[in-house]
Amino acid sequence: MERTFVMVKPDGVQRALVGEVIRRFEAKGFTLVGLKMVQVSRELAEKHYDVHRERPFFGSLVNFIISAPVVAMVWEGKGVIAAARKIIGATNPLNAEPGTIRGDYGVDIGRNLIHGSDAPETAAQEVSLWFGDELANWEPTIK
Ligand code: CMP
Repeated sequence: MERTFVMVKPDGVQRALVGEVIRRFEAKGFTLVGLKMVQVSRELAEKHYDVHRERPFFGSLVNFIISAPVVAMVWEGKGVIAAARKIIGATNPLNAEPGTIRGDYGVDIGRNLIHGSDAPETAAQEVSLWFGDELANWEPTIK
């Protein structure tokens, strides 16, 4: 079954949006298979955002992610990678549609509250980087 990585960033944690994020993914019908609060190391942040290493905002992005705890999650379900991107909304919250998390709660591209894997390859890499084999294998049995 498809899995994706979702991280509530320090601003999302401090705005008390963790519950709202979980609610939206649960309400859609996805299954939570990994969840932890992490004080991210510089090494992990740099690995996670390696694709942006040459971008001018790389340093400030890494410094922000390590500045305070994040909440890392893995969600499972049919089409969850693309669906998570829709639930989260466009990278720049000012371009994100109302009804999306970034569209409803954000205004700043550097403080866009939440990260979601953008494609199957990055989802696999990020799930492995953040969780290794610490994931739950379960399926809801109560409908
Ligand atoms: P995220 O989905 O975590 O992936 C990369 C992050 O880089 C992105 O969300 C933004 O928070 C950040 N980012 C992208 N473009 C810019 C920018 N122009 N200035 C600052 N941060 C950016």
